[in-house]
Amino acid sequence: MVKKKTCIFISGQGSNLKNLILHSRENNFPIKISLVICNKKNANGIIYAKKYKIPYVIINTKKLNYEAKVLKTLKKYKISFICLAGYMKILSNNLIKNYRGRIINIHPSLLPKFKGLNTFSRMLKNKEIKAGCTVHYVNEKLDGGNTIHKKLFFIKNKDNEKILRKKTQKLEYRAFPEAIIKIFRNI
Ligand code: GRF
Repeated sequence: MVKKKTCIFISGQGSNLKNLILHSRENNFPIKISLVICNKKNANGIIYAKKYKIPYVIINTKKLNYEAKVLKTLKKYKISFICLAGYMKILSNNLIKNYRGRIINIHPSLLPKFKGLNTFSRMLKNKEIKAGCTVHYVNEKLDGGNTIHKKLFFIKNKDNEKILRKKTQKLEYRAFPEAIIKIFRNI
């Protein structure tokens, strides 16, 4: 099996990055993580790129030419698939156009509910019954592309934001790899 050369975009902890790296080392997993792009120079997630010897690039998104640098770097590493894993910056239309249908994101809610930030506090405020995560294609609309895979759990009375985050992330570690397998099984 020829694995798709994949870039993971991160901004923070990188626990999904670590999880995807471990999955990608299995023989029959459809992607190879060839590059990590990070927009925060002190992001914890970079330690996983270093530990597993994956090339990484820190992009300063405040610089005017940063987008050209991103595209050039993706080309240099012959990237054909992109996973956003806690990447806290909206992608430009041009990048989306260049990789249409080949960028996916993981979001900590059951989309289309609770797009954007602060999902857990809004869920609690709204007295939601269910929470979960969604893996979806990225298009020009925030958290608006087609859903690939979802996983849910029922919210308990004692669940606070911290607990919801923990439970959601646990599901994410299954949902993200499952979504990737689903995509490439169908091609
Ligand atoms: C995840 O919970 C994901 O749903 C959201 O950002 C978080 C990233 O966590 N988009 P990590 O950096 O992978 O630990």
